[in-house]
Amino acid sequence: MAKIAFLGAGMMGQPMVRNFLQGGHAVTVYNRTPDKARALEAFGATVAATPRAAAAGADVIMSSLTNDDASRATWTGTDGALQADLKPGAFAIEVSTVSLTWVSELNELAMARGLHFLDCPVAGRPDVAESGQLKIFAGGRVEDVDALRPVLAAISKSVTHVGGVGKGITFKLIYNVMGAIHVAACAEGMFACEAAGIDIAVAAEGFSTGATGSPHVIRHARYMAENKHEDPVQFSGRMRIKDVDYGIRLIESVGAQSVIGHATKAVFAQMVEHAMGDHNDSELIDALRIAHGRNPA
Ligand SMILES: NC(=O)c1ccc[n+]([C@@H]2O[C@H](COP(=O)([O-])OP(=O)(O)OC[C@H]3O[C@@H](n4cnc5c(N)ncnc54)[C@H](OP(=O)(O)O)[C@@H]3O)[C@@H](O)[C@H]2O)c1
Repeated sequence: MAKIAFLGAGMMGQPMVRNFLQGGHAVTVYNRTPDKARALEAFGATVAATPRAAAAGADVIMSSLTNDDASRATWTGTDGALQADLKPGAFAIEVSTVSLTWVSELNELAMARGLHFLDCPVAGRPDVAESGQLKIFAGGRVEDVDALRPVLAAISKSVTHVGGVGKGITFKLIYNVMGAIHVAACAEGMFACEAAGIDIAVAAEGFSTGATGSPHVIRHARYMAENKHEDPVQFSGRMRIKDVDYGIRLIESVGAQSVIGHATKAVFAQMVEHAMGDHNDSELIDALRIAHGRNPA
């Protein structure tokens, strides 16, 4: 069983830590806001006051954090994980959705400290993380990925080795741009139906059972039709914009295009413009209603 340092006890981090503990691993958790880490003590986690203290002597150091800035601060700050008394040959794993630029830099920094680095971004919402059924897209040396499979099994249903370091996050960002396009198309389609006088429950049923019915459309059309505002936030409009932004930059850096990605970012930007950036991404339809002079649901 591994000694795991887990950095970031957010919506995704909390269930991942619980599943590592359930799998018999020893987990030390750091979170910027200490109460969220302390909530995991009841499940058997140890709480560290700094990333540096959490990472000391760990076999695996894993982070699940908002974005590049959060990851940089947690790994490289004065009390960051890379300042720790590290176990030689330990693994550093970034599971957050961050930019390829930052992953490449973090890999260099981790290697300089004798760590084996892997980018292992995850697909699946917090409820999927809770059930230990995330999909992992791994970037790193094949022998490192294989060495970690028994550990990653505690949080995931599949680990796809996409390629060398950086290829996991490369695939995940392109995947998330495509996913965001589905959600934006769903919101625009649902709103267009409503504006045209079609019952949106009928629209949701039609979009979900026809050729348009991707898993994203099925999930979000139902949420939009049911106006599920009271549900806890699982993935916000602001997070969608962050992912699409990193994704577009990556796609354009390799000489490809993301015309629809740019449009999708502009569609989600309406959530921020209408003070809904921290709401669930399904509420995009409300931002469209407001933008077009209608009342939100
Ligand atoms: N939610 C999803 O459905 C989902 C699915 C797949 C992947 N992801 C990715 O998983 C990662 C975590 O997402 P989440 O949903 O767990 O988000 P979250 O609940 O908002 O948690 C974000 C975490 O980052 C920390 N953080 C933010 N800014 C920081 C800073 N400047 N310095 C140090 N720590 C900072 C937060 O600490 P505090 O508690 O102190 O704020 C918290 O631990 C993101 O990269 C996201 O894109 C999310």
